[in-house]
Amino acid sequence: MPRLVVLISGNGSNLQAIIDAIADGTLAAEIVCVISNQANAGGIGRALRAGIPTRVVSHQDFSDRQSFDQALARAIAEENPDLIILAGFMRVLGPEFVQRFAGRILNIHPSLLPRFKGTHTHRRAIQAGETEHGASVHVVTEDLDDGPIIDQIRVPVFPGDDEDALAARVLVQEHILYPRAIAAYAATLDDKPTEP
Ligand code: GRF
Repeated sequence: MPRLVVLISGNGSNLQAIIDAIADGTLAAEIVCVISNQANAGGIGRALRAGIPTRVVSHQDFSDRQSFDQALARAIAEENPDLIILAGFMRVLGPEFVQRFAGRILNIHPSLLPRFKGTHTHRRAIQAGETEHGASVHVVTEDLDDGPIIDQIRVPVFPGDDEDALAARVLVQEHILYPRAIAAYAATLDDKPTEP
């Protein structure tokens, strides 16, 4: 079974979907640790309620991104995961971090990539007059929201939708998408260790 480390910054509803998919047997995996860069992230409570160990690596404790990335990488390596799952993790990871865990970091992004990389995706989709929007799970590479897409879900954009309504419609679908994409990607993994 693949060992997952899940990185969060906030509410952790995608983390919850992964926890639930493991519990109901639709995702064969083990979450070995949840790591947050925010000490007060709601997702930490979700992990604790599920009996999953948690760690906080706060970006505020480091003077630059590289030293934060190094501390985060050390904490992750101690858990010896097969996959690192970004689930609402709101920090951009630098090239050294990405290279160290190349091909083993997945992210969920709330748009139909390659449309709307970056932030405020729902607002931008409405402003662009899209009739369809969604979410993507992709492999993390050095370029933001740019790696190979594993799977996507689509939702309609209705006339009169505001950002919040559209975000809520997408989020419900993210919770279906992410466990499914993790299962599909894990099935393609060989048994190479995380560290060379
Ligand atoms: C999700 O919309 C995800 O796509 C984005 O941040 C949000 C996280 O939500 N990257 P949650 O913390 O999983 O509830």
